[in-house]
Amino acid sequence: MSATYALEMESITKVFPGVRALDDVTLRVKPGTVHALMGENGAGKSTLMKCLFGIYKEDGGTIKLNGEVCHFKDSHDALKRGVSMIHQELSNVPERSVAQNLYLGREPLKSFGIIDHKKMNEDTADLLKRLEIDIKPERRIGSLSISMQQTCEIAKAVSYNSKVVVMDEPTSSLTDNEVAHLFKIIRQLREQNVAIVYISHKMEEIFAIADEVSVMRDGKMIGTYQTEELTNDKLISLMVGRDANLRFPTVSSTIGDVLLKVENLCSPNPRSFQDVSFELRRGEILGIGGLVGAQRTELMEAIFGVRATSSGKISLKGEEISSMSPRKAIEHGMGMITEDRRGSGIFPLMNISSNTSIASLREYLSKLGLLKHKELKQASVRYNEALRTKTPTMETLIQNLSGGNQQKVIISRWLMTLPDILIMDEPTRGIDVGAKFEIYQIMSQLAQQGKAIIMVSSEMPELIGMSHRVMVLCSGRCTGILDKSECSQENIMRLATKFM
Ligand SMILES: Nc1ncnc2c1ncn2[C@@H]1O[C@H](COP(=O)(O)OP(=O)(O)OP(=O)(O)O)[C@@H](O)[C@H]1O
Ligand SMILES: [Mg+2]
Repeated sequence: MSATYALEMESITKVFPGVRALDDVTLRVKPGTVHALMGENGAGKSTLMKCLFGIYKEDGGTIKLNGEVCHFKDSHDALKRGVSMIHQELSNVPERSVAQNLYLGREPLKSFGIIDHKKMNEDTADLLKRLEIDIKPERRIGSLSISMQQTCEIAKAVSYNSKVVVMDEPTSSLTDNEVAHLFKIIRQLREQNVAIVYISHKMEEIFAIADEVSVMRDGKMIGTYQTEELTNDKLISLMVGRDANLRFPTVSSTIGDVLLKVENLCSPNPRSFQDVSFELRRGEILGIGGLVGAQRTELMEAIFGVRATSSGKISLKGEEISSMSPRKAIEHGMGMITEDRRGSGIFPLMNISSNTSIASLREYLSKLGLLKHKELKQASVRYNEALRTKTPTMETLIQNLSGGNQQKVIISRWLMTLPDILIMDEPTRGIDVGAKFEIYQIMSQLAQQGKAIIMVSSEMPELIGMSHRVMVLCSGRCTGILDKSECSQENIMRLATKFM
């Protein structure tokens, strides 16, 4: 007889210096179900899964697989026993091919121990075909887009014929179509009686795919629920466990003079943004809508001077800036929170204090040119407190924070520079639901102080709830700028798909 549970983690405890990351946590997952693991940033979700995979050694508790006590030495060991994981951070070897990455450490061998590349490529091609993933096995994995690489990770997990598959925020960089595809794969796995642990901050995904939901808070397991017995609000209150203000703040700012003017901006790449014009005024929050691939990030990077333009003009406070660079942008009071915060924003071996204050050092120099350490530190504490960054101390290395908390530090860094113009690219991706609203509050305050914000977002409620106007891009072109009164999901979608 097979056991009731595919996976049982019982009374797991894990302590890091200064944090009890897991406190007597029990999780039981049935075969053939999708089991969502929810909780705020730093609640302990990734840590629990890392204990399962032997990446961390738990301080107490037992792990059972199919009713049998087991303990994995490392993720390789886990894979061999039919347990695989798609990590929050990509973990492939960029220089190697897709097939080599899929078969890393278990390459098919010919006699004399030579790797059988032909078989490896054939097997990979079969697997990708079965999963309807259109990628060549020979492609260098590093040359694929992040979302394609993510899809390869998913294929890899499936390729082990695992009985338990853990997915830690698998959709954070997937397009809507890719998410739909992933869900199809997940449903197939479920039919094959695989147990899936699914971690995500996207509520609508949970209601679309999960059978059961376990909620963690501050290292403790709050409970396990059937998805049907939950509503959005109930789930949120279980997660945050406090009165969180989950309403969009009213942005009652005065719209002033033009801070940024973009005229007919074109990318040298004909497939990227072309002929984009808009104005951004003091006190304004301008949302940028569009589907993934609409070239929104590319446009923002060009405005910030990271990317070249072939023609068009950018003016800041009435002054035309020729050949924009990030340095010029920052000098003129612009700041940018990038989409890929963990990849491009973090100094892993520095503490939170330094990671927060590094972009503001100039504003904290005394007349004699000395750094005002105390004020600098106080300011970084203030911003991280506002965003509820969960950390034992400000001296903790940023690499020891949970994924979402690392992002909060980077957002604090740019807020602290008090930019006149702040570009925020997908500001709340990977951020828990409570902190999202803290970010909206801060955006609203900035607008009230006469600053201006550009917010690129794929989340409709956020675009509609926060923006004074929404500019929509489709295939690199501006297909319309909607006033607040015209900002509806339908109108945005219509413009976002205009050329499709
Ligand atoms: N290697 C580590 N050293 C010290 N503390 C750690 C380490 N890894 C995690 N922690 C701490 O353990 C707690 C739980 O972190 P974990 O990464 O499990 O959160 P999470 O629920 O996955 O959050 P997120 O949604 O942000 O990914 C956090 O307070 C974090 O700072
Ligand atoms: Mg995590």
